[in-house]
Amino acid sequence: MEQYVIKGGNPLVGEVEIGGAKNAALAILAAAIMTDETVTIENLPNVRDINALLEVMEEIGARIDRVDAHTVKVNGSYVKEVPVDHDSMKKIRASYYLLGALLGKYKRAEVILPGGCNIGSRPMDLHIKGFRALGAHVEIRNGAVAAEAEHLKGNHIYLDKVSVGATINIMMAAAMAEGKTTIENAAKEPHVVDVANFLNSMGANIRGAGTDVIRIVGVKRLHKTEYSIIPDQIEAGTFMFAAAATKGDVTVKNVIPKHLEATTAKLLEVGCEVEELDDAVRVVASKPLKNTQVTTLPYPGFPTDMQPQMTVVLGTACGTSTVTESIFENRFKYVDELTRMGASVKVESSIAIITGVDHYTGARVSALDLRAGAALVIAGMAAEGVTVIDDIHYIQRGYENFEGKLRGLGAQIERVETEKEIRKFRFKVS
Ligand code: UD1
Repeated sequence: MEQYVIKGGNPLVGEVEIGGAKNAALAILAAAIMTDETVTIENLPNVRDINALLEVMEEIGARIDRVDAHTVKVNGSYVKEVPVDHDSMKKIRASYYLLGALLGKYKRAEVILPGGCNIGSRPMDLHIKGFRALGAHVEIRNGAVAAEAEHLKGNHIYLDKVSVGATINIMMAAAMAEGKTTIENAAKEPHVVDVANFLNSMGANIRGAGTDVIRIVGVKRLHKTEYSIIPDQIEAGTFMFAAAATKGDVTVKNVIPKHLEATTAKLLEVGCEVEELDDAVRVVASKPLKNTQVTTLPYPGFPTDMQPQMTVVLGTACGTSTVTESIFENRFKYVDELTRMGASVKVESSIAIITGVDHYTGARVSALDLRAGAALVIAGMAAEGVTVIDDIHYIQRGYENFEGKLRGLGAQIERVETEKEIRKFRFKVS
């Protein structure tokens, strides 16, 4: 099992390049099998979740050609096994995107119920409601979701709750249904727009992605395309918050600043300077951090995937802050780990009440999920002394070369595998 070992105290300074959006890439890869022609996808992040999905796609017969670390060619004409039952599938929640893709293309799909980060109960009722509205018969059997339809027919679908996954999944199936589909109360996240743009580049007819009403006219066939995935707003935001927590000066490159507005707004509130350039943002944290209030909301609100990183920043801000989690009910488990580093945080139901402390101190902690893990890395870089983070496989699910990028900004961080290596690191930095 690998760990990160970090010697904190260095302000992060310099430039960092952001990769393609993991959450967009997962859906786009699944959608790529909806045509029998070869699709080229660029700016793919080279992270574990993506590689796990590619493995499963190969398993069901898709031809995957890794052109380089960030480019892949997908050919879905050989997909033979519609049931998707694979161990890797359990590891990534986004395996559910194969449901919408397979159902749209073959009118039949069976996918094992997904796993993913343990951040609360993550039902699929809205996905299923959408597929049923399109005329599919859907049932849960033997731990899998099975959907089948004679014909998929467009329909009017209202989502009771804003759901990224349900919006994208229904959009994929509806792209190859007969007639018109309207999705009301759709998610507006940048990756919903990216998936719609990708499907449209394959010949789909999807309008309104990025608003809360998406209109789709089904087509019979989709065709080849070449597509480059948008930058990852969460990876970008993580580096922006790392700059703030370490009192650094970081230019985060290859981003779409518009996608980062909620993150930028909170950094300004806590007293950082944020400069927006064409495709970069620079964060300078030269003053003591101030307290603020944050509530996670669907886009364009403050992203739940940035919540742990925000808490870490507020943990050393002056005064009392609150962070309210309104999307997932179980997303504060990392607070116990942060407390081991000296944070003063009390969680009451969905609200974390944070009393700023002067600084964190290094400790041995565990990455409990992807974003919480990244947040602990930030805390480690801001802390006095050495922090050891266990279970970093969670972090590797969504951050490419995290330690390398951080080292490029001056962080003292290494990926190690043994207690001996940890002792060696401690000796080196002492
Ligand atoms: C996606 C992201 C995840 C992010 C989340 C919210 C991917 C692969 N993952 O997850 O990183 O944290 O959006 O921005 O893109 N819900 C239901 N029924 C459903 C579906 C969802 O009640 O059928 C609820 C969920 O429990 C949650 C809320 O809706 O409370 C939002 O979830 P959703 O947007 O669907 O998240 P994911 O697509 O799973």
